[in-house]
Amino acid sequence: MLAPMRGAAATALTELEREIDAPGSGLDRLHLVPTPFVPEVRLYLAEDAIVWWARMEALAGHALPAPYWASAWAGGQALARHLLDHPELAAGRRVLDLAAGSGLVAIAAALAGAADVVANDIDPYAVAAITVNARANRVTVDVSGEDLLDSARVDADLVVAGDVFYSRPMAERMLPFLQRAVASGAEVLVGDPGRGHLPADGLRVLADYPVPTTEPSVDSSLRRVQVLRPA
Ligand SMILES: C[S@@+](CC[C@H](N)C(=O)[O-])C[C@H]1O[C@@H](n2cnc3c(N)ncnc32)[C@H](O)[C@@H]1O
Repeated sequence: MLAPMRGAAATALTELEREIDAPGSGLDRLHLVPTPFVPEVRLYLAEDAIVWWARMEALAGHALPAPYWASAWAGGQALARHLLDHPELAAGRRVLDLAAGSGLVAIAAALAGAADVVANDIDPYAVAAITVNARANRVTVDVSGEDLLDSARVDADLVVAGDVFYSRPMAERMLPFLQRAVASGAEVLVGDPGRGHLPADGLRVLADYPVPTTEPSVDSSLRRVQVLRPA
């Protein structure tokens, strides 16, 4: 049983609920939209996350964490697509979505029939966003805001991690955690658009998707994303 949401995450939830209910439709607003590569899942996303972030910081009067949860990352979209197209991967299992952002992959796991889904993210706004997004998709997802990356044991049958290899420091903590998850008996699936911090060896490619990107791109509106499993 997870503790009720409190502190920073409860404050963030109040702010997001206020944002969702506020009138207005500009670039600096949240909109409930179908995820481009996973239209079965609708998410509260910012049309322009940077503009939304700037407005929220101006309102708060202090710096806020970058709103990663307000975008549908390519790695998470590919992983969510893979779970919905291969529901046997999640069905009946205990799933942990690590660094869950919007909660897209966790929601896909729940729609695929997972017995129990936990979405974990250290950003209180992500914890709040997962709560409103799970609600919008009528699924049950437990949310945890703890930093789990130093945990010795991983209590899940399936661990999913979308777009988590975006920096060296993150990769240096994430890889050992995922290795411990495998050692604990969990299956691990990673969705990665080639951000460069994922080692090429020791991973098997299960699928390769052209994912519509929501990020600024100079050459293509699609990103190739691999879904991988430790070999
Ligand atoms: C690029 S986003 C990916 C979000 C989501 N998985 C997706 O694919 O849409 C990375 C996320 O990692 C989260 N994060 C960073 N460090 C973390 C940690 N130690 N534990 C859990 N989440 C973390 C950030 O808050 C952010 O939401």
